[in-house]
Amino acid sequence: HHNPGAFPDGFLWGASTSAYQVEGAWNEDGKGPSVIDKATFHDGITDFTVTSDHYHRFKEDIALLAEMGLKTYRFSIAWSRLYPDGDGELNPAGVAFYQQLINEICRQGIEPLVTLYHFDLPWALQQDGGWSNRRTVAAFERFAITCFEQYGQQVKYWLTINEQNMMILKGDVIGTLPPGTPDPQRTLYQQNHHMMLAQAKAMVACHQRLPQAKIGPAPNISCIYAASARPEDVLAADNFSALRNWLYLDLAVHGRYNNVVWAFLQQRGWLPTIEADDMATIAAGKPDFIAFNYYASATVSADMPEVARGELNSKQQADQQMAGIDKTVYVGCNNPHLKQNQFGWYIDPVGFRITAREIYARYALPLIVTENGLGAFDTLEAGNKIYDDYRIAYLREHIAQLRLAIADGVELFGYCPWSAIDLVSTHQGISKRYGFVYVNRDEQDLKDLARYRKKSFFWYQQLIASNGTTP
Ligand code: BG6
Repeated sequence: HHNPGAFPDGFLWGASTSAYQVEGAWNEDGKGPSVIDKATFHDGITDFTVTSDHYHRFKEDIALLAEMGLKTYRFSIAWSRLYPDGDGELNPAGVAFYQQLINEICRQGIEPLVTLYHFDLPWALQQDGGWSNRRTVAAFERFAITCFEQYGQQVKYWLTINEQNMMILKGDVIGTLPPGTPDPQRTLYQQNHHMMLAQAKAMVACHQRLPQAKIGPAPNISCIYAASARPEDVLAADNFSALRNWLYLDLAVHGRYNNVVWAFLQQRGWLPTIEADDMATIAAGKPDFIAFNYYASATVSADMPEVARGELNSKQQADQQMAGIDKTVYVGCNNPHLKQNQFGWYIDPVGFRITAREIYARYALPLIVTENGLGAFDTLEAGNKIYDDYRIAYLREHIAQLRLAIADGVELFGYCPWSAIDLVSTHQGISKRYGFVYVNRDEQDLKDLARYRKKSFFWYQQLIASNGTTP
């Protein structure tokens, strides 16, 4: 075996993007609109029409990622580029685009890691009820099979659905819950059930067609701390973790509903309609690994004094909204032990280790991190330099904790920070940058969209070259 705490040989150092945040060309070459293109969730400032123009500049971008030394590159396929109506006719220009992209990734010696679906449900399906309609399950299976058939010779690693748990928990924000839907929570858990069916069918189809390939889910998982050692707070943290994390992985891995969540939904009349073969279908889908996105831990208490609420930052308020499903069960609260980033997100590297250990202990499947990173306002300095030491610090601390998780015995085979290059953040535009590569544009002014290597680019390049041993 390898050195305890060393990154294993062949470890997949990578980086991530998603189609709608990086490609642009939102209506080119026959692409149909997605829920993102029609979204009301962004503030009117955020614009996904051009983003980083990766659709037209992918060769330059992949060359930069190769220069950085990436072993893998995680990106997503825009469903409505392949099927403009979500179902129906296949768009040959869309198929060709991803073929060229994958060819280029492979030509540069990078392992493609493909997300089938990253928030961008085809608009035509959404108009027909989206994930509330069982028809979307079959449409997703068909789309997934098309991807396996078209790209399966080159793509060995597949991810089903990005952050399904966030789409359910924040259904009105990043999910596909139409505004004003009656009985929103029941609707969301019905959507969740359909996504679980869709995911299971995609996993089965992948294994049937591509016996060498590996496929898994990609939820956002965070360890949950109790605000105190008071048993009620510990219970609240346990409840929240079941609802936020384990519901999704228990279904994906074990094919069963988490009992705590089941009881929670039952008490509120939010149980989904489950048809006769559904649980067998879900159980038949077996992930080969678990991918997870991690940004920060969360802290909850069974209750919280009103006075503390005013002190919550925006991220915590969002969690609070999530907690608003039932405030008697858990309430998100401050963690005075942690620092926050410029956007009020907590920074918790030790929580990363705890999270990895917890997932591995529960499911005993190999893990890969598909997102982790720091959104920040970068400054372009003279000579087109970006000194993003804060991002290096964030990544360094998180990688150090991953090394400790490996020493703890966690089977971890890759790490893909968010994001490979600058892209448009889901809610806060391009000014909230995550990339190793700077994309020269503003919120409104597209400038020349030139690519500049940030300081973190050179740091990550060295780190990869030493397989994670350089500080
Ligand atoms: C994850 C998503 O939730 O977090 C990404 O998978 C997203 O699409 C990332 O960009 C960071 O969130 P934000 O809101 O800062 O873009």
